[in-house]
Amino acid sequence: MENPKRYLITSALPYANGPKHIGHLAGAYLPADIYVRYLRAQGKDVVYVCGSDEHGAAITIQAMKEKTTPKAIVDKYHAMLKSNMADLGISFDIYHRTSAPIHHETAQEFFTALNNHGDLEIKETDQYFDEAANTFLADRYIIGTCPVCGNENAYGDQCERCGTSLSPEELINPRSTLSGNAPIKKQTKHWYLPLNRHEAFLRKWILEDHKSDWKSNVLGQCKSWIEAGLLPRAVTRDLDWGISLPAGIEGGEGKVLYVWFDAPIGYISATRQWALDNNKDWKPYWYDADTKLVHFIGKDNIVFHAIIFPVMLQLHGNTLPDNVPSNEFMNLEGDKMSTSRGWSIEMEDYINDFVKKENGGDMMVDALRYYLTAIAPETKDSEFTWKGFQETVKGELVDVFGNFVNRAFVLMHKLNKGKVPPLHAAVLDDADRKLFEEIASAKVRIEGLIETYKFRDAQYEVIDLARKGNKYMQDKQPWIVAKSLEAEPANQQLIDNCMHVCLQLTANLAVFINPFLPFAAKKMCYMMKVVDKMLEWHNGGSTKLLSVGYSLREPQLLFRKIEDAEVAEQVAKLKTKSSKLKEEKDPVAPGPVEVAATPAEDKVEPLIKQEIVFDDFAKIDLKVGTILAAEKVAKADKLLKLEIDLGFEVRTIVSGIALHFDPDAIIGKQVVVVANLAPRKMRGIESNGMILMAEDAAGKLHFVRPEDAVNNGSGVS
Ligand code: MF3
Ligand code: ZN
Repeated sequence: MENPKRYLITSALPYANGPKHIGHLAGAYLPADIYVRYLRAQGKDVVYVCGSDEHGAAITIQAMKEKTTPKAIVDKYHAMLKSNMADLGISFDIYHRTSAPIHHETAQEFFTALNNHGDLEIKETDQYFDEAANTFLADRYIIGTCPVCGNENAYGDQCERCGTSLSPEELINPRSTLSGNAPIKKQTKHWYLPLNRHEAFLRKWILEDHKSDWKSNVLGQCKSWIEAGLLPRAVTRDLDWGISLPAGIEGGEGKVLYVWFDAPIGYISATRQWALDNNKDWKPYWYDADTKLVHFIGKDNIVFHAIIFPVMLQLHGNTLPDNVPSNEFMNLEGDKMSTSRGWSIEMEDYINDFVKKENGGDMMVDALRYYLTAIAPETKDSEFTWKGFQETVKGELVDVFGNFVNRAFVLMHKLNKGKVPPLHAAVLDDADRKLFEEIASAKVRIEGLIETYKFRDAQYEVIDLARKGNKYMQDKQPWIVAKSLEAEPANQQLIDNCMHVCLQLTANLAVFINPFLPFAAKKMCYMMKVVDKMLEWHNGGSTKLLSVGYSLREPQLLFRKIEDAEVAEQVAKLKTKSSKLKEEKDPVAPGPVEVAATPAEDKVEPLIKQEIVFDDFAKIDLKVGTILAAEKVAKADKLLKLEIDLGFEVRTIVSGIALHFDPDAIIGKQVVVVANLAPRKMRGIESNGMILMAEDAAGKLHFVRPEDAVNNGSGVS
């Protein structure tokens, strides 16, 4: 968008159901903060909102786990998240919460407006119901066997082993996490947002209007959602934790708004609260076309922010997002980050271990911010390692940026009596001029990169500029020139010029690094005895930021290196934490099922299942068959309908392998079938058996089959 009048920047509202890790920080908070600090430095009208997402099953499940109330959970984790974010320099204008009355009001009004306008549909459907607990079951409360990978603890909305998104109907042997019983089906009424009515709008708005400014990972996901066929999405739930439907809606008693309906409206209610607190008008931010709205999110949130919420906004007459920059995931030491498996670095832990330590403080906040941006998963998944952290901080912050600033100050104190020396035009040379030009051109590149959400490259430009400063100083060697002064007093002019250039560069580096490492920038201002106003972006590129004759302070330490012992300690801590959690979870207890912590990002490790006796095994009838036909199942992007020749009969089997195989390419292949599995219906088709698959480390599936062709119907044992 050209020349917006105001900016409204959001970061995904984190669920207040547990601590959040640095992968979350790198995905949705840090990039937004960089962008916002940059805009503020430009003097733009910008509001940056966020808050805790305090509804939904993520919260109630955590309450069950901690044997407390949902309210206690959200209070505890809201406080934690709010203070963690502040400690890490995430500069929200407001960090709100969705339990606030103003949010409940805003969300209910939103619902009412859509409902009155005929934008919602009402449907009666059969939903899973737990008779023992006397309650309908949210998707997350149902677990069963994943039809794709066979994981026995897949959730009703997603299998966290293979990542497939599911509906409860697709689970094999579903059971309730409340009682452990098999749920029954019971009729219930819900309100739906008919996304199917908005396909034309979405196609144009996303795939045409934004085809060149949205990131390809975002466009790709949107495209496949649209192509798969948009369906009405329920926006209400039978749950006792959440925002009640507005009073007076027939049949709405006892129902709440679906968390994914209310949470994004949290951006609006947060803006309203911010406006109240600051005596501002919130409406232009949400109603005017010259507002640039940008949602920073992780990739698991794309569909909600790029498809569903925009449809809601459009219907409600609100501003649409201009961009939805989404990051991929950040892995940790060779594995997926997960709080519940203990394979993560919680923000809280990092703060305790590094920031609130004697040799820590803000410089360790900047160190983390630096590394997370340097390895930001902007286009593909990336990986955090403690060794990488140590090396990057040492190699780039300490040795390049910190070193340059420190040398400039030390030398200025030594060779210029602590004052900014003049620039002597008569002896100005190409190297001096070249460095001034580098400053100006770096500024233009940094701007272009930040404005297109390429923070990693933008930050690199700043370090690269410092690197050029080091090279310049190294070439000029003012400390050597100083030795010639007795014989040649006029050489002081050469020293003056070199130090003058280096100091102006230092001031520019403070301006440029400020969005990324605000604490270092602030410290640099202190050293230069300038007010924070110097960090305004328009000052970047100027070669006259520091006045001649101005006396500067002694240098201060901007960064420190991370010791080998600290790396070893953290790696050991990670391993202990994850193996301890694994012990706690194993073995899977019978009866009411233990629900893993933090849903939504938890991933269940493949375990060895409970020991069985031979007779158990002998009950399974495995037979070899040949695939005669394969076709995709309509409206189920993961399912293939297969006809399999078992020698004695031809069977129909529905298998969740459509994402792994092209139907035409598997015809004629032999497979191994579980031939005596009770039939079950999937998407209306009766499936008579299962096919054995092996999953490789990348999650790709492979058929298990006899090495040489055998007769169809041959037994496998
Ligand atoms: N709480 C969700 C998550 O952690 C994100 C909600 S973003 C919002 O995945 F837009 F809905 F607020
Ligand atoms: Zn699975």
